[in-house]
Amino acid sequence: MKAINPSSLGIYIHVPFCLQKCRYCDFYSLPLAWPVDMASYNQALLAEISLKASLYPHQSIQSIYIGGGTPSLLSPQQIQTIITVIKNSFNLNIDAEISLEANPAALHEQKMAGLLEAGINRFSLGVQSFDDEELRLMGRAHNARQAYETIELFQRQGCKNFNIDLIYGLPGQSIEKWLQNLKQAAECNPSHLSLYLLQLEEHTPMGRDAAAKKIRLPGEDIEWEMYYQAVSYLQEHGYDHYELSNFCRPGYHCRHNLLYWSACEYLAWEPER
Ligand SMILES: C[S@@+](CC[C@H](N)C(=O)[O-])C[C@H]1O[C@@H](n2cnc3c(N)ncnc32)[C@H](O)[C@@H]1O
Ligand code: SF4
Repeated sequence: MKAINPSSLGIYIHVPFCLQKCRYCDFYSLPLAWPVDMASYNQALLAEISLKASLYPHQSIQSIYIGGGTPSLLSPQQIQTIITVIKNSFNLNIDAEISLEANPAALHEQKMAGLLEAGINRFSLGVQSFDDEELRLMGRAHNARQAYETIELFQRQGCKNFNIDLIYGLPGQSIEKWLQNLKQAAECNPSHLSLYLLQLEEHTPMGRDAAAKKIRLPGEDIEWEMYYQAVSYLQEHGYDHYELSNFCRPGYHCRHNLLYWSACEYLAWEPER
């Protein structure tokens, strides 16, 4: 497992924009059509980083996690500026993990190359499912082919350190269908997999559908079975189950997750709702 240095901080940056709002999602993000100005958000973020850095002089940083929302909507130049400001304001460790969350509908070849050049050394890709019908039900902005194409890009660009997010317990999903998704994900050989049980808040479109009984969730017994069978499958295929929802190839634990789970300190920039 990666060593965590308790005296070195992590940084979490929230990018609150998405191409469109997925029907299940309660994370704070605005659809891109909303009258927001990404450039002014970025400017405010940079000012905030410099301001906070003055409170932590010479503080060493072991991980930066740029999450969302959909941070892959930012340009490589914007990401590069964020990383440079952090480098200039703190003491960024030479081996710091710098992760970025990406959506298959918002990451093309040139952008990925630019992001790698900017210093991103770990991607987390929101795939959720390899089944187009399930993706449609979730209101995702991409289909399974686009997810595969993005994963092929990681492989072509020599980026070995990428995570795939999957959601299970979807309406109408059988254990077999879920395991098929998982198998397809593992066959892409990601260094890391995050498996999330669908959580529905009532104010989301899918939450409302569930409350009105327009959709039916598999139920607790099946959800447990989905989880346990997934854990066995991934362990049999060489993944370390190092945290409730997280699995990795040896040595590819997500440092940002470890910081959270070891109750280490981190600085976070999140807009207020
Ligand atoms: C903040 S999102 C970032 C990824 C990117 N925005 C995307 O979705 O492509 C992180 C992950 O949280 C998970 N997630 C979001 N809402 C969820 C929900 N209601 N239930 C379970 N998992 C959820 C998804 O797997 C998603 O990829
Ligand atoms: S799941 Fe990801 S892409 Fe979908 S709305 Fe939430 S943050 Fe945005």
